Amino acid sequence: MKQIILDILKAGVRAPSGDNSQPWRFEIKDNVIFIYNLPEKDNPIFNYKQRGSHIAHGALIENIVIAATEKGYKALVVLFPHGAESDCVAQVTLEQTLVVKDPLFSFIFTRAINRKPYRQVLLSSEQKNSIFETTKEIGSGRIILVDDMNAVKKLGKDFSINEIVMLENRDLHNYFFSDVRWTDEEEQREKTGLYAKTMELKPPQLAVFKLLSHWRINTLLCKLGIARFIAKENAKGYGTGTIGAIIMEDESPESYIRAGRIMQRVWLKAAQMHFGFHPITGVVYMMMRIRDNRNEVLSDVHVNLLRKAYHDIEAQLGITSGELTITFRIGDGGEPSGYSSRLEPRVEYIT
Ligand SMILES: Cc1cc2nc3c(=O)[nH]c(=O)nc-3n(C[C@H](O)[C@H](O)[C@H](O)COP(=O)(O)O)c2cc1C
Repeated sequence: MKQIILDILKAGVRAPSGDNSQPWRFEIKDNVIFIYNLPEKDNPIFNYKQRGSHIAHGALIENIVIAATEKGYKALVVLFPHGAESDCVAQVTLEQTLVVKDPLFSFIFTRAINRKPYRQVLLSSEQKNSIFETTKEIGSGRIILVDDMNAVKKLGKDFSINEIVMLENRDLHNYFFSDVRWTDEEEQREKTGLYAKTMELKPPQLAVFKLLSHWRINTLLCKLGIARFIAKENAKGYGTGTIGAIIMEDESPESYIRAGRIMQRVWLKAAQMHFGFHPITGVVYMMMRIRDNRNEVLSDVHVNLLRKAYHDIEAQLGITSGELTITFRIGDGGEPSGYSSRLEPRVEYIT
């Protein structure tokens, strides 16, 4: 049983997380896995109320459920067995029974972020339906997909406001750059953080980015308009492919975990269809703080920029109710240039 659980967890931790922060650890008792959140792992500004980490845990749980079927087990998931305030996000009991293997299993290992611009190949109605079906498979939520070119371009611009705020705000700038793994050696050593190769930057862009990691140089270049220039360039890539969103019934931690399960299934289906997938969440996540009046760090100018972008995101996606939990794009981007590493699952056996 120990080895089976370890194999399942190794598939589990292939899940995506904000800046590859991998905010999890596991306790195992016989055939039961307790999954714990590590609240200090992800960026504290973006990860408001642990929502980004809860999405990542949803993806982790979905991987575990799928990998269990491969081993002939059914994974029974109970969210927050000790209450929603607890760091114990789930209790997963493995039951040996006749199960149908999930065909998405092999894509757990090939799925990766693809930040390249996507070619204007649209999803067929069959592919869209398969994506919409995901909410039924998980049992809650709603998926929106938008592929009208004008709307996609506008959304690309809205998403890119993140870069202006991130480069012009000292705290966000420092958090972001402290997460970047610039070289292959650094990536191999740390096995967490944002691997520069996956950022799809051309060598001169990478050189400029390295310069920007120094706050003083960054401030000087921001005065000359570099943050707005980068946002404009990134908007071109963000505004390609099909843009999607996952809407949940409410803002509870359970809903964010279910949103993460939906996201992961959609991402695996995208991989199965040979499409790239790219969560783009900065504006939506910063707006969650602003909406709750919990903005301790953003200037008034940035708050106004974010509000305007967020309202346009809602308008372009046609959102009038529910909780917008994550925004992403799907499309034909070819192979990503790099793949992020993973730490071994951190496991403790309890009696
Ligand atoms: C909740 C969440 C939010 C994310 N937000 C962004 C984002 O705004 N921009 C981005 O480029 N990647 C985003 N990512 C992708 C992660 O950076 C990526 O999954 C991680 O670096 C690991 O890489 P992998 O998915 O290739 O394994 C997000 C992932 C999660 C789970």
